[in-house]
Amino acid sequence: MSQLAAPNAGLNPAVKILSDGQAFVEEWLRRVLPACETPPARLHQAMHDAVFPGGRRARPLLCRLIAERYDGGDSELVGRMSAAVELVHCASLVQDDLPCFDDAEMRRGRPACHVVYGQATAILVGDALLTLAFETLSNVPSRLGTVAFRLIGLLTSATGSSNGVIGGQALELEPLPIEIGHYHRHKTAALFRAAAAGGAICCGAENDVARWARLGELIGCALQIRDDLDDVTGHQTDLGKPIGRDAALGRPNMALRGSPEEAHAMRKALLDGVRELLGPATPGSEALHLLIEEVTRPSRV
Ligand code: IPE
Ligand code: IPE
Ligand code: MG
Ligand code: MG
Repeated sequence: MSQLAAPNAGLNPAVKILSDGQAFVEEWLRRVLPACETPPARLHQAMHDAVFPGGRRARPLLCRLIAERYDGGDSELVGRMSAAVELVHCASLVQDDLPCFDDAEMRRGRPACHVVYGQATAILVGDALLTLAFETLSNVPSRLGTVAFRLIGLLTSATGSSNGVIGGQALELEPLPIEIGHYHRHKTAALFRAAAAGGAICCGAENDVARWARLGELIGCALQIRDDLDDVTGHQTDLGKPIGRDAALGRPNMALRGSPEEAHAMRKALLDGVRELLGPATPGSEALHLLIEEVTRPSRV
């Protein structure tokens, strides 16, 4: 999407909305990240490099687009929540690439954090980005304190060991066999649930929170199947990260567990569920439909 957004931005209103959404979250990320020269400067430079340049910014875009289905919410609250989910995601990528996890030397088309800065700094980058996510939410003006408290609870759960990303990543290390859908719901979909529910909470749309959380979960699961397919049938040059890591490490992968065709069918079934929840694309929802399509489509079909 980062590639798609710039040249077409003037032509397609939905592309323009996504491009503006990326700029919005990136402004917030720059605002909350410590300056690179602030001591400890090497750590802060490494944190910056783990966040910029980004990927598609799928999670913060989802948060913002759902807020825009209402009145857009308080801009600072949406900005902080969007930045916080992206910070958790970037932290998870740094730790996922470490030699003791997926041992991947490239991320987003550049050398992975531990390759440039060493493993000790990369571990601290992960810790610091996670901490910064929660600091970002706790630094709201006091008038937004109650809702920020709720968002912190939501993001804590989506990040943590019982229901979140950390718990999902830990399943790879447990001796018990993994149910792959359960693994995807934790390691990937939990953050999408929080991003989507968070967008509604920012607008006080309490009655709709469960529906948006479900939408986020379906998108997250479809995105992880897309990522599993890419690991099997994609190319490093398109993806900016090594392929074949799941087969090499024996990681649960939907396209290896069954066949790539079965994984495609599961991805499509999840997207049918998304369409059922969202309804057909209208001028107000086109950008959301486009985002979902862009982030769940395998690089090569
Ligand atoms: C990659 O996520 C890691 C997974 C959870 C599959 P994305 O595909 O959203 O990566 P970026 O942020 O666009 O680089
Ligand atoms: C990672 O899943 C999910 C995270 C929580 C980071 P993958 O290991 O499949 O993601 P990639 O393929 O390295 O981006
Ligand atoms: Mg990985
Ligand atoms: Mg993968």
